[in-house]
Amino acid sequence: MYRTHNNGALRANHINETVTLAGWVQKTRDKGFMIWVDLRDRYGITQLIFDEERTPKDVMERAKTLGREFVIQVTGNVIERESKNPKMPTGDVELLVEELSILNEAKTPPFTIEDATDGGEDLRMKYRYLDIRRNPVKEKLIFRHKVSIAVRNYLSEKGFIEVETPYLIKSTPEGARDFVVPSRMNEGQFYALPQSPQTFKQLLMVGGMDKYFQIVKCFRDEDLRADRQPEFTQIDCEMAFVEQEDILNVFEGLTKHLLKEVVGFEIENFPRMTYDEAMAKYGNDKPDIRFGMEFGELNAVAQHKDFKIFNEAELVVGIAMPGGAAYTRKEIDALVDWVKRPQVGALGMVYVKYNEDGSFKSSVDKFYDQDDLAQWAAVTGAKPGDLICLLSGETFKTRTQLSALRMELANRLGLRKSDEFAPLWVVDFPLLEWDEETERYHAMHHPFTSPKPGQMELLDTNPGDVKANAYDLVLNGNEIGGGSIRIHDKETQSKMFDYLGFTKEEAQAQFGFLMDAFQYGAPPHGGLAFGLDRLVAILGGQETIRDFIAFPKNNAGRDVMIDAPAKIDEDQLKELNLKITL
Ligand code: AMO
Repeated sequence: MYRTHNNGALRANHINETVTLAGWVQKTRDKGFMIWVDLRDRYGITQLIFDEERTPKDVMERAKTLGREFVIQVTGNVIERESKNPKMPTGDVELLVEELSILNEAKTPPFTIEDATDGGEDLRMKYRYLDIRRNPVKEKLIFRHKVSIAVRNYLSEKGFIEVETPYLIKSTPEGARDFVVPSRMNEGQFYALPQSPQTFKQLLMVGGMDKYFQIVKCFRDEDLRADRQPEFTQIDCEMAFVEQEDILNVFEGLTKHLLKEVVGFEIENFPRMTYDEAMAKYGNDKPDIRFGMEFGELNAVAQHKDFKIFNEAELVVGIAMPGGAAYTRKEIDALVDWVKRPQVGALGMVYVKYNEDGSFKSSVDKFYDQDDLAQWAAVTGAKPGDLICLLSGETFKTRTQLSALRMELANRLGLRKSDEFAPLWVVDFPLLEWDEETERYHAMHHPFTSPKPGQMELLDTNPGDVKANAYDLVLNGNEIGGGSIRIHDKETQSKMFDYLGFTKEEAQAQFGFLMDAFQYGAPPHGGLAFGLDRLVAILGGQETIRDFIAFPKNNAGRDVMIDAPAKIDEDQLKELNLKITL
């Protein structure tokens, strides 16, 4: 037996017991006649004491050779500590060591394995297994486990069955590029790794599984960001004989349950907002509603004077920044520069200081009088002491820019509190999205999403106006999940593919299996998928998902620990009949 207890277990009631512990040497303090060692494992730290007078000589000598991260096993007597450490759960006791075996020596680690480490990001990624020994990383993985278990239990109790679907498949369009795998047995042919199990879960509905879920890896070759990894995990779900309302209710329940179970947060409001409303109020289809600063549209009260920029704009829109009237000229100039950065792309910003005395001072005083500015304050909900920030231009662009400013200001003002949670559903997404590059419409969610009843006809006349039975779950300004009610008949699905620019042959070759299945009694169905990595990160109070993944990729999509992707050798290429022509 390697150990009788773990390193987080010993308390005062263990005093006088003989115990065996195993773990890693976190720290040693050698006073010559007395050596203290902090012994660490997943569960905690126990202080060991080697004492010249009480510890056998050979053990004492071996203890002097211990270095950081050595793996050791010790047996000894639990004794009361002379100076107790109330900050440590095991701080009342220490282990007076009688036997010591060094199970494995360790090279000096490239960074300190402590909560506040001296290791930079790159180094810690390269030695991720050492980083995982640190509490902040280890605890995030344990937290992820808790969320996964809570999800499994909840869905299982609601009658969902977890079914595994294959990873070696054919392309499923979710808007990213596929990772492909060459097939040795089928020369010149490739599998694609699933961007999601979308088509399979729909086939499971045709198969009568009724309620399916899976915690499943998905693969997308897309540009990486803090909330995106090339391989990530979904909580993927599908239900038969449901309408949108049924799905929203089940997953609202799951979200509330997780918030309560995992972070102890009770949700009272779970608002629903249409896509159009979210865009108009927050300039964003994933609004952070933990704070106000809602948009006020000002065309009616800003286009009646000689200010050309506003008069020519499709939209004039503003927000009130609480307390912003106290900003100095320099600070406001910096804000204007901020919105003019290429990442935001505004051409300029008009501002109005709503002074504490009720007067207004704006950057456009030449054009607007105090009454005009008072109207702007009313529309943006500004109060004395606030700064009103206005942008203008083409509607979508201007909203996006103001949304970026809103989030920036909220960050600066500390309004995005990591221990507060505000979920909402955004519903009635447009079915299609115009793609500038290809100059055609694409499915905004995916091509299996059904239009709202009666809207199919609009496809030919006003395609951009067609709304879908599609919804996103948003939490604290992050898209946590998305889904839709699906098309479940061959004819509509085939029409949709036509519409999206697939030839009949392409549609048949790529999705013939699904349309065939629809001819054998496909029930009405719908579902959604949550991004588990994102969900866990947000519940954990952060927005970077990498920390919650045991072995993540870096921003270039590389695993720097195992050094992947990598070249493969000639023999392997030959076997696959592949030639690299770089
Ligand atoms: P969607 O593409 O919206 O829907 O994905 C669902 C959720 O998965 C998460 N997500 C990601 N997380 C980390 N890294 C990524 N690269 C990444 N891409 C997506 C997001 C997102 O909301 N098959 C549909 C679901 C359905 O219709 O049922 C789908 O995959 O949190």
